[in-house]
Order: sequence, then structure tokens, then C-alpha cells
Amino acid sequence: MPSIKKIAVIPGDGIGIDVTKEAMKVLEILQRLHNLPLDIQHFDYGAERYLRDGTTMPPQQVEDFRRNFDAIFIGALGDPRVPDMAHARDILLGLRFKLDLYVNYRPIKLLDEKLCPLKGKTEADIDFVVFRENTEGLYVGMGGIFKKGTPDEIATQEDVNTRKGVERIIRHAFEFAKQKGRKKVTMSDKSNALRFGHDLWLRTFEEVGAEYPDIEKEHIYIDALMMQMVKRPEQFEVIVTCNMFGDIATDLGAQLQGGMGLAASGNINPHGTSMFEPVHGSAPKYAGKNTANPLAAILTVGLMLDHLGFSEMNSIVETAVIDAIKANKTTKDLGGNLGTKEVGEFVCKQIERLNS
Ligand code: IPM
Ligand code: MN
Repeated sequence: MPSIKKIAVIPGDGIGIDVTKEAMKVLEILQRLHNLPLDIQHFDYGAERYLRDGTTMPPQQVEDFRRNFDAIFIGALGDPRVPDMAHARDILLGLRFKLDLYVNYRPIKLLDEKLCPLKGKTEADIDFVVFRENTEGLYVGMGGIFKKGTPDEIATQEDVNTRKGVERIIRHAFEFAKQKGRKKVTMSDKSNALRFGHDLWLRTFEEVGAEYPDIEKEHIYIDALMMQMVKRPEQFEVIVTCNMFGDIATDLGAQLQGGMGLAASGNINPHGTSMFEPVHGSAPKYAGKNTANPLAAILTVGLMLDHLGFSEMNSIVETAVIDAIKANKTTKDLGGNLGTKEVGEFVCKQIERLNS
């Protein structure tokens, strides 16, 4: 009997709650059909809880996640009643930092050519992964504001790059390429202008890359990467980049695959509890309206199960999602006319059909 995997679920805010409901139906059906040894526990962290009792993410909860859970599934965070996003930052970025989730894994895969905004590109052309460094860079929150509100105001925001941090994400990208038989790793930075922090990226890439003689190494500045992702996306297999650039590149990538409604991601600590989230936000305007696309959250369940050692489940989820897209059983953003729930139900039924 394989060990039981413990999963914490945080539906979060807005449409996060709607899409998580469907993603959990998919998780439960897979668990039932395939006897997956999962223990799923729900947590109510988010705007509602924060407004009620001021709780964002208590330190003992982070410890509980670290010690007692294998994975966290989170819907999305953000609510207009918390305009500075204090709770979202504390929960999402807090967990990324405190659980040391240094790998932000964002696959960019076109599931059906009809969804690609680029002329003439097919499924074969868009299939790469982005590894975004997830614990350093401009996101560390170092800096400050001096003389706030005056004409002499100064704001600084430090870009922190450590040898350890840069090396481990680059190594992760190469290891992934090696394991999955991908032939090229592309590192993107801005070392022509950022002569310190990104010089470290460039040197580290060359050093770590030398350990992988069978994998082609490519370096490309971030501005050129944005251009090439649109012009010739088929040239990319594995991309590794810093926190800020990865944030931007993966929104562009999401569009190449059909939009935010299909973008899945993992925040991974290869040696500890990891967190999985659809890339999209909480879209408060659409909350509770049964219009949000649940497929990104559903695909994220696949990534989570893959990470937990059930890679076959990821293929099943992906096949069912492709079937939904091909049959036009989708929400409006993908050209269908179904609601969130109906798409979730279709995917569940499809998973049952695939099993029989
Ligand atoms: C993402 C989001 C977050 C980020 C925001 C909500 C802080 O855009 O996960 O890509 O910038 O990392
Ligand atoms: Mn983003």
C-alpha cells in the first residue's frame, strides 16, 4: 500500500472558489476510480476569513503544511474589499517564501490549434515549460520609500540574486530536460543591462550547463525572448528565468496556449511540501456567476498528481480536458457556451468514460 498523500485545499477568493469546486470533483473522481491514497483537507484562508478575524496565514499553519502535508492546492486570491492585497501577498508569496518553493513550474502547451492566437501554429509548435525562479529577485520585498508623498520621494526595490538560488533553479531546469528527454535549455536574463545580478545568472548558467554535455544551451535576453515566443515558439523546449521575467513570460505563454483559463502551475520544493495553483487571478467580477473557466484548475490537479507520483492521472486529466475542448464543452472564453459547473461535470464524465 503506497503511503497516503495529504493534500491541503485553499479555495481562496472570487472565482478561485468556483474553479476549485470543479477541480475537487475531478480529484475525487480520480481518487475513487483509481483508488488513490489521498487525504484531502480544506482550509478557509482568503479575504472572507481575513476580514472576519484578521487571519492571513498563521505561522503555525505554515509549519503544519510543512510537516504534515505533501501538497497544497490553491484557487486564487484577491478581493476588492482588501485593496492592498495584504492577505493575498501574505498567503501566496508567504507560502512561496516560507516553504521555499523555489521552482515555479509553468508548462505552456497548446492543447488544440484552434485556441492559438498565432497564425498557422499547431499543437506540435507550442509545447515547452517555463521554470521561473520563485523565491528571489524583485519579489523579496527589500527596499523602501523615503520622503513619501513629497516631490523628492525616493523608492528602491532591490533585485536579490544569490548564487545558491540561481544555481538550484538552473540545475532543476537541466535535470528536468534530462529526465524528460528534452534537448535544449534556454536561459533568459537581461545581462547586457543588469551587469551584476544577471551576470551571476549568465555565469551560473554556463557553469551548470557544462555538467550537461548532451543538452543544448541557449541564452537569450528577455526582450528577445518575448519576440521569439510570438515569432517561433516551436524553438523552445525548456526555459529558465528569474522571478520577475518568469511572471511576465508566463502570461504571454498562457495566451499562446489559449488564455489564462488553461494555464496551470506548480510552486515546487523538490524536497518538501509543494503548492499548485492555476495561473489566473480571482476575477471578483465573475465570482459565483458560474462563468469562470475551470480547466486551468483542473489541469493543475493533474500537475499536482503528477508531482505526487501519479503521473498517469495527469495524462488522464489532460486527455479529458482536450476532449472537452474538441467537443466545445467549454466556457465562453474558449468559444463554448457552458458554465463552470457544466464544464467540470463534462470532464468528470469523460474521465469515467476513459476508465470504462
Ligand atoms: C502569478 C501572479 C503573482 C505573481 C501575483 C498575484 C503576486 O501574478 O502567480 O503569476 O506575481 O507571482
Ligand atoms: Mn503573474
